[in-house]
Amino acid sequence: MPFAGLPATLAWLGDDDGVLRLLDQTRLPLETVYCDCATVEDVWEAIRTLRVRGAPAIGVAAAYGLCLGLRPHRTAPPDVFHARLVEVGRYLCECRPTAVNLAWAVRRATEAARAAGPDPPAAWRALLETAHALARADAAACHRIGLHGAALVPEGGGVLTHCNAGALATVAWGTALAPLYVAHAAGRRFRVYADETRPLLQGARLTAYELHAAGLDVTVLCDGAAAGLLRRGAVQLVLVGADRIAANGDTANKVGTYSVALAARAHGVPLYVAAPTSTFDLSLPDGHDIPIEERPDDEIRRGLGREVVPPGVPCWNPAFDVTPADLITGLITERGIIRPVTADTVRAGVTET
Ligand code: MRU
Repeated sequence: MPFAGLPATLAWLGDDDGVLRLLDQTRLPLETVYCDCATVEDVWEAIRTLRVRGAPAIGVAAAYGLCLGLRPHRTAPPDVFHARLVEVGRYLCECRPTAVNLAWAVRRATEAARAAGPDPPAAWRALLETAHALARADAAACHRIGLHGAALVPEGGGVLTHCNAGALATVAWGTALAPLYVAHAAGRRFRVYADETRPLLQGARLTAYELHAAGLDVTVLCDGAAAGLLRRGAVQLVLVGADRIAANGDTANKVGTYSVALAARAHGVPLYVAAPTSTFDLSLPDGHDIPIEERPDDEIRRGLGREVVPPGVPCWNPAFDVTPADLITGLITERGIIRPVTADTVRAGVTET
């Protein structure tokens, strides 16, 4: 599903014997290169190395990964197929631990396969249909997030974002960037400030790429410049995505989001988190137990294409941090805006119809 003239983040090509085609985000912005995944191991590697990344996108990719992992077992006895279903699901869930969308999508697809009955061909077909349905649902949810959040975008003002929670992180529209796309399409004028997002530069490489390609006004700044920008009064809204939101609204997102939230609070600028309800984990009362992925120290040590840390000096490389709910003005979901953010409003906003 291409969005705003951008190359599609992911797409299933072909029918039952198809492949999962991913836009290789490690090569952006300089090269538009795709990688075709024909096995679950290919998908695992693509998620692990961030060829596909962003919580909703890795959830949908994992659902297709489950299809690929079970495809060789379509003619196996039912007990072998269903045992393998559990193993492949577990394997995928271990790939990146923080974004709950991954485990959520694997669970949804596994439940659909079981509901289709013990017969492996029917169960496998349910896996593929569920993956397609999750992809369509993600694009629809993100569009709804955009519609709910667009009114927050300050006319003639500035919006700060961190990492990439855009179309590239989802099937289409994005989460934090969806309100910006909707406001832009409605003719509103504003400037987006994109934190570069060390160490892997998702803000500079991906957010700037997609907003610029779609014709939005975007400026990249070093992460350390964000507090000064807020102090200058250039920003009236901070919009970020999420990888997992606990029952009280504590939110895990790309490392550095917490610093942005502290600076936004210090300068009286509202911070909204945009995420589909699949990013909420109501089994966790607060953010303390959200697992935080730690990535290889080489991403810092050699992050700029050469050695930048003296040999022998260790690096600490958490991929995410947790922003406490009291620093978050509101949570924008496909159902509406949860504001203020408390355990009661989160439960009502996520579970009640
Ligand atoms: O490590 P990444 O690039 O997968 O981290 C992505 C983020 O932190 C995003 O802000 C989050 O997943 C929301 S994407 C809509």
